[in-house]
Amino acid sequence: MKRIYNFSPGPSALPLPVLEKAAAEMCDANGTGQSVMEMSHRSKDYKPIIENAEALLRELMGIPANYKVLFLQGGASLQFAMVPLNLAAGESPGSGKKAAYIDTGIWADKAVKEAAKFADATVRASSKDKAYTYIPNAPSPLPGDAYYHITLNNTIVGTKWAEIPDTGSVPLVTDFSSCALSEPLDVSKFGILYAGAQKNLGPAGTTVVIIREDLIGHAPAWVPAMLRYDTHAGEGSMYNTPPCYGIYMIGLVLEWLKNLGGIPAIAKMNQEKAGLFYQYLENSKLFYSPVEKPFRSLMNIPFVARVEDAEKRTELENRFVKEAAATGLKNLAGHRLVGGMRASIYNAMPIDGVKALIQFMEKFEKGE
Ligand SMILES: Cc1ncc(COP(=O)(O)O)c(C=O)c1O
Repeated sequence: MKRIYNFSPGPSALPLPVLEKAAAEMCDANGTGQSVMEMSHRSKDYKPIIENAEALLRELMGIPANYKVLFLQGGASLQFAMVPLNLAAGESPGSGKKAAYIDTGIWADKAVKEAAKFADATVRASSKDKAYTYIPNAPSPLPGDAYYHITLNNTIVGTKWAEIPDTGSVPLVTDFSSCALSEPLDVSKFGILYAGAQKNLGPAGTTVVIIREDLIGHAPAWVPAMLRYDTHAGEGSMYNTPPCYGIYMIGLVLEWLKNLGGIPAIAKMNQEKAGLFYQYLENSKLFYSPVEKPFRSLMNIPFVARVEDAEKRTELENRFVKEAAATGLKNLAGHRLVGGMRASIYNAMPIDGVKALIQFMEKFEKGE
């Protein structure tokens, strides 16, 4: 078996021990004589699997008792709609309350556009003026805001909020899809945290929502059952068939993380990995990070070649991505909307992968 170093932004690399355990249990999970994929979600065999995933998430993130953990479907993108539908929608569609959004990139932009269908959602600050390469100052919420939304880590441009804004009594809602479990986070500062699983949590198909209990139960009657937090919270994420196998895989990833020493341990490794890579970029004559220093992501690191002529730059970058892939360093192309290159180094990326990438880049630079 030859495993690649997978720098994909998502779905992305999973820890090898997790894949090996899943493989070992594929046909007979826990002596039940069946695969987790074959189990009824309401069976006594499956119950401990979802309970284990939730308990581990609570333990690792220090989730306070007054928060519910939901395992849903529809990706982070469905949360762009569920958040306003549950927190700000009015008695008829389009008559919603005010909601604040900070525009730090394409995902934040998608979130506010979706919210504007159900609420009076507006952008209060944006970093679009500099191609989203920084995080703008967060203005205070306005009176009457139902919530305040930020994208904690911008997967595409590689920015992250250095400080969590204080929004007082207005619930802070965050899309933390691309930085979940990468560093310690004080859950109590947020009303809702949501993430598509396919980066740091497990395979695609499950969305994790962590929601303060007092924010549940406010959706108007016209909001469909599947889009209501009260529906899912009231049934322990079992209103309908949950993404059973994905939840099992999240449990395995969380067990792996716990065995490593939990979030403080992985945060240290993430800082070391990102530190090495940024350090290399600082010293490189060919490549640089376009992101302002205080806002650089630990998870997604875009980089650009220092070549004036745009056509020549694209040519060089394409050659870089192709040659890197040929040596087993895969998925280094930047997002299709921004170009350049990007190394996504989530929790599962070993430091050896980052070192191998740096080594390759040094050689590439020298023309070797
Ligand atoms: C920050 C962020 N938000 C939302 C999404 C969309 O997630 P999904 O595909 O789970 O809907 C992504 C996908 O990469 C993302 O990085």
